[in-house]
Amino acid sequence: MKNTVLTLRGQKESQDKITMLTCYDYSMAKLMDEAGINVLLIGDSLGQVMLGYEDTLSVTMDDMIHHTAAVARGAKNAFILADMPFMSYQASIYDAVTNAGRLMKEGRANGVKLEGGATVCEQIRAIVDASIPVCAHLGLTPQSVNAFGGFKVQGKTAKTAQKLIDDAKRVEEAGASMIVLECIPAPIAAKITESVSVPTIGIGAGVGCDGQVLVYQDMLGMFSDYVPKFVKHFAEVGDIMKCAFADYTAEVKAGTFPTAAQTYGIADDVLEKLY
Ligand code: KIV
Repeated sequence: MKNTVLTLRGQKESQDKITMLTCYDYSMAKLMDEAGINVLLIGDSLGQVMLGYEDTLSVTMDDMIHHTAAVARGAKNAFILADMPFMSYQASIYDAVTNAGRLMKEGRANGVKLEGGATVCEQIRAIVDASIPVCAHLGLTPQSVNAFGGFKVQGKTAKTAQKLIDDAKRVEEAGASMIVLECIPAPIAAKITESVSVPTIGIGAGVGCDGQVLVYQDMLGMFSDYVPKFVKHFAEVGDIMKCAFADYTAEVKAGTFPTAAQTYGIADDVLEKLY
């Protein structure tokens, strides 16, 4: 069954936890979709894990559309959520609606995600008015890394924690149909989850959220540049891949790959005609 904003809201109501993973390409989308992941997030984290940038700031609308369209082609049932990259929505309402529209029209997303609370409510309202579902993102919002002075846990003081709770209520009022909570103390995430009627999806925000999201390279042990505390390796796929690459190298060099099983032949009488 196709996951929609309504089925995701229903999961919150029936306390059936929502699963979200980042996804950036067609074959991975097929695997995650077949495994029953509810939401595939084409995160702007692709700047780091796919393109090798040090943060998400250089990611462009064209990058996001390219990867979103590939994921959308691979997924039948998952909800396709595309990140709005840095400066695609901050400068004006016009930019926000136009760029959200491109992610839906060209990328075939089912909704868009943008970072921020009260400061982006006008954008959220305008995008929702254009019939585009919006997921808000609060806490450690990576596009603000320079303003935060690094990738740091947010909401640890009474003032900043209260601001997160207020922001969650504001984005819900503005029409957001989901809220990602990144790197905030678990009790604050649980309080937000109780205070809003839309699903909250945590990453480094504890078990009290309505769902969880991870970057897939992190959960598969494929990315070692930086491993945050909240990451769990569900499999050491990075090690398995390195072994396979080394085995391939050894077999190619030894001449044991390819064998007859991987080789095309030709009839002897055809071969004889050649000079
Ligand atoms: O870009 C991303 O992958 C994200 C998740 C970490 C939530 O925003």
